[in-house]
Amino acid sequence: MSHTAPDTSLLVNLPSAAPVQFFDLKAQQKLIRPALEQRWITILDHGRYIGGPEVDECETALADLTGAGDAVAVGSGTQALVMPLLAMGIGTGDAVFIPGFTYNATANAVLLAGAFPVIVDIDPHTFNMCPADLARKIDEVKAKGDLIARCVMPVDLYGLPADYKAIQAVADMHDLRVIADGAQAFGGKDNGDWVGNIAEITAISFYPTKTLAGYGDGGAILVRDAEFADRLRSIRWHGTGDNRKESIRVGINGRCDSIQCAVVAEKLGIFAEERARRIAAASLYNARLEGLIDHQVALDGQESAYGLYTVRVRNRDAVRAALAEAAIPSGIYYDMAIHQMPAFAHCAAAGSLPHCEKAAEESLSLPMHPYLSEAQIHKVCDTLIAAHNA
Ligand SMILES: Cc1ncc(COP(=O)(O)O)c(C=O)c1O
Repeated sequence: MSHTAPDTSLLVNLPSAAPVQFFDLKAQQKLIRPALEQRWITILDHGRYIGGPEVDECETALADLTGAGDAVAVGSGTQALVMPLLAMGIGTGDAVFIPGFTYNATANAVLLAGAFPVIVDIDPHTFNMCPADLARKIDEVKAKGDLIARCVMPVDLYGLPADYKAIQAVADMHDLRVIADGAQAFGGKDNGDWVGNIAEITAISFYPTKTLAGYGDGGAILVRDAEFADRLRSIRWHGTGDNRKESIRVGINGRCDSIQCAVVAEKLGIFAEERARRIAAASLYNARLEGLIDHQVALDGQESAYGLYTVRVRNRDAVRAALAEAAIPSGIYYDMAIHQMPAFAHCAAAGSLPHCEKAAEESLSLPMHPYLSEAQIHKVCDTLIAAHNA
């Protein structure tokens, strides 16, 4: 487990009465608005709302920054999960292993592809897929014999990369593919490798509150293999070949439009600074809460993208009420594990994933964005610690 010493010099200065925001898209927009307005004009002038030059610009910038071989911009993070499954021919009768504590999109993507999500418990400290439980669940599927184990889909929850070293070792032993659900984690790293270049295939989301986001829906698939990227580009245009008319495979409308790609390309220009500020904010949270309040911890060599900063509290309702009383917003991601939702209840029995169920009872996310001040973080921590101990 690693901790960086807080570098509060990176945090913004704000008047002491400035309200604490959970996310702060307005502060970010102020910085890039003139450049975005210029980009709107360019798009209105060239008129290529789909497939404009901004798509290539965004894809190239994503691949360059992460070191991934290629990036394919798509219509959402959910599409970025479904499309690699289609490209691998994973569907009916196939098992895809997912963690049971994630956004519903992970499970939906597997079911939409026609495959079955086998739900794996999480590690209580990282909140991410437990590699030992993954190995157990693969053995169970193989012993039962009604599904074919094909793929693991770990989630980088709250921005923290999953334990890919251990997961890849298990996957390799059973000849399974790995698709990373990095929707929350653009900017995360593992031993210097960016999310997008840790697993062979990574899905990211540009939903507006993500660490790298558009002003609408969008996402991207980061891949190592150029031939696989070509297949994804065909699938995102209804499975067509180069003429964009004749379907040579089954596909969908999986395109990301020029406007969303332009927003993401522009935001990449300030991404390094925003990433550093999120890490500085999280380091101060870590320093204040260490030994007092349990929080998500990174494994050695990992850096979270800090899409969310999440703690565990047993008296969550009381803590939330105290924070709200002090005008501090908080969020719950998530108050139900996957198998506790009606749509996925057939995937695992109630009580069978104890760490997921406990996380759903205790997880609480605190304000996290690049425009938090030192005073605001101290205020959140003071209020949280007092309420936790009350
Ligand atoms: C873990 C995870 N996977 C997938 C998605 C789906 O992304 P999108 O909303 O862009 O479809 C999200 C979005 O919140 C997510 O958090």
